[in-house]
Amino acid sequence: MQVLGVASEMYPLLKTGGLADVVGALPGALAGLGVRLQTLLPGHPAVLAALQDAHEVAHWPAWFGGPARLRAGRCGALDLLVLDAPHLYDRPGNPYLDGHGRDWPDNAERYAALAFAAARIAWGEVPHCVPDLVHAHDWQAALVPAYLHYLGAGKRRPATVLTLHNLAFQGLFKADIWSRLGLPAEAFAMQGLEYHGDVGYLKAGIHFADAITTVSPTYAREIRTLAGGMGMDDMLRWRDAAVSGIVNGIDTEVWNPATDALLAQPFSEVDLAGRVANKRAVEARFGLPAEAPGDGPLICMVSRLTAQKGIDLVAATLDAIVATGARLVVLGAGDRALQDALRAGAQRHPERVAVQIGYDEGLSHLLQGGCDAILVPSRFEPCGLTQLYGLRYGCVPVVARVGGLADTVIDANDAAMKAGVATGVQFAEVSAEGVLDAVRRTVALYRRPAVWQRLQAAGMRAEVGWQASAAEYAALYRRLCHREETP
Ligand code: ADP
Ligand code: GLC
Repeated sequence: MQVLGVASEMYPLLKTGGLADVVGALPGALAGLGVRLQTLLPGHPAVLAALQDAHEVAHWPAWFGGPARLRAGRCGALDLLVLDAPHLYDRPGNPYLDGHGRDWPDNAERYAALAFAAARIAWGEVPHCVPDLVHAHDWQAALVPAYLHYLGAGKRRPATVLTLHNLAFQGLFKADIWSRLGLPAEAFAMQGLEYHGDVGYLKAGIHFADAITTVSPTYAREIRTLAGGMGMDDMLRWRDAAVSGIVNGIDTEVWNPATDALLAQPFSEVDLAGRVANKRAVEARFGLPAEAPGDGPLICMVSRLTAQKGIDLVAATLDAIVATGARLVVLGAGDRALQDALRAGAQRHPERVAVQIGYDEGLSHLLQGGCDAILVPSRFEPCGLTQLYGLRYGCVPVVARVGGLADTVIDANDAAMKAGVATGVQFAEVSAEGVLDAVRRTVALYRRPAVWQRLQAAGMRAEVGWQASAAEYAALYRRLCHREETP
């Protein structure tokens, strides 16, 4: 089966968050299941630089305001199509934001251009890539089913899957962009792209995709409730039969503590001794004194610094966290106010709290391999990947009981401890008090070394790879391709 993936980022070419990890891992995970997944990406400088064996497969002289070339190529084992349109994508830095942290003013065109290109590929206009199904990720690709619907009369119509990685990002634009999308006037309607007077990309995808998946079963339930639906719960309930949750896996080769060259010292579940050298390396990188006898756990956070991730809750209770004996290191970037609040905390507790603002893939591996625990206090979390990396690296996850965090970590309550299945700490009340309480529980567990080692060992044994979830995607693809008719 031939599948065209459509996404705005993909590891290792370009990454701002977990979306890239998932898009980068899926092709390999599906390859053994009879699915050839080729991925269409926008031609950002980093993407074009990484493209190997590139050759032009289409040339569109007037593509959303300038010329575009579609290039096919590879990056390692990844099979790629890249929309090379310099007027849209040849910009430095973050793919979505300008140098001042504002959305690029032409984001509507940039991602309409990507989706329309996907539609033309879906129609069979590009030799050697004639997909049976199109798998679109997030709002940046969500217009694909809409283009297929409105402009596809008389053309082949592959099945479509839309995966929601985060309902907080909906691709909403003022109606004045309408004339630039190349869609007929009747598409600007409640039964189409119109969303409360604006143009809604994600809304359109939810409306027209044959199947809608999200990245964990719990999040799939949450988004169909008023509290978790971010205004889209009505629509998602209307599409109820098409919605499902498939939990993310991680690439267990990229994230393998036994072979990870980004660690100071590799280690494995049978011998965790190497973690000590990694902890020393973390302390050195963050300018913290080496652990002293009686210290509590070294807890890390690796995160976008946004309200979603509950960073403000940690900042609000930082002094009390330090008082438990725990130490905290944070690697992240995002909201100015959150960066400042964390930095202020580090200044108050220079021996126990350290913050590095920025994005550092290598350091994120070292933190998982050297810290005792990873804190993920998200207000909502579609899946979350850092807790999965934590499990694999013996870095015990301490997580809010929401979304994919609820689905992937087993709380160290008495029953789970007795059964030997606990893998971390969960807390239900996502508040500063809830975070503090979870840290207190974590410190108490850490102070009982045999108990702590059992937690680490159970976590490292947990299935966090793609095997089960890739099979679910493959089964979904097959069901859709064998359907008689599209709705
Ligand atoms: P989200 O996609 O919502 O940001 P995920 O947990 O799914 O959350 O994925 C985040 C990914 O980005 C993980 O691979 C994580 O390690 C990585 N990451 C986040 N912030 C940083 C950072 N500052 N430096 C390095 N990696 C980071
Ligand atoms: C989004 C979500 C995160 C998820 C990731 C990959 O960025 O916020 O929870 O893990 O996508 O699916």
